Amino acid sequence: MLIKDINRMKEVIKGVKKEGKTIGFVPTMGYLHEGHLSLIRCSKRDNDITVVSIFVNPIQFGQNEDLDRYPRDLERDEKLCRQEGVDYIFVPSAEQMYPEGFSTYVQVEELTGGLCGAFRPGHFKGVTTVVTKLFNIVQPDRAYFGEKDYQQLAVVKKMVKDLNMNLEVVGCPIVREKDGLAMSSRNKYLSPKERESAVALYKALVRAKESFEKGINSVEELKKIMEETIISYPEVNEIQYIEIVDPDTLKPKNVAEEGDVVALAVFVGNTRLIDNIRL
Ligand code: PAF
Repeated sequence: MLIKDINRMKEVIKGVKKEGKTIGFVPTMGYLHEGHLSLIRCSKRDNDITVVSIFVNPIQFGQNEDLDRYPRDLERDEKLCRQEGVDYIFVPSAEQMYPEGFSTYVQVEELTGGLCGAFRPGHFKGVTTVVTKLFNIVQPDRAYFGEKDYQQLAVVKKMVKDLNMNLEVVGCPIVREKDGLAMSSRNKYLSPKERESAVALYKALVRAKESFEKGINSVEELKKIMEETIISYPEVNEIQYIEIVDPDTLKPKNVAEEGDVVALAVFVGNTRLIDNIRL
């Protein structure tokens, strides 16, 4: 069932809670792909009912980012949700989510300073604010996030812990195309040539992991190996960052250790792609 109204969604949730059923929640910005479907399947496995939200959240986009051209296809999303057996699709409007005079924001400090946060000021404040609102409306027992946005997952987990929110945040593995490209709604922006080069991120991550396993633990050296790999792909425009960070604090390392996260953001053509791998 598709629900657009916040109060209607809250009423439905009230009924579900009354029946003592558990609620799994998959927040998305739509244009669903296999990565989202894997989150839905985890939620269906763990909970009595599953709610998927589709909301392109304006406050997590910067001024020069892709809010206006972010891909949207509600009809297709709805069909996929039905096929997966999603119980409720929540599609609020921006006007309902952010009525005139809206002025309350949720911000996680420290964890949001590096990686994507360093290049997308305000992005995580937008994410944590909308996720808090969605959690308040849907009141899930569990919420599912992809590990592709590793920093987002860490930030949301921290918010839930710090603010004593009453739910479990579940991270689910990255789903990849056959050649290794991490699934993302933004892959749609890639031209056929760019799509070929987009595998650069995954190839670089795999090379870093293999090099680490062979004994190279200098982050400087590992970064160099990754840069070499990435720039060998013709459609790569810019490496925004490559970092090896502690999996919990997200602080950059100089010497890599098992369990660390190698994360990167790269522009392929004009499309900014992110990916990561655990050592
Ligand atoms: O990962 C996303 O799609 C978004 O950041 C989220 C979590 C749905 C919040 O808008």
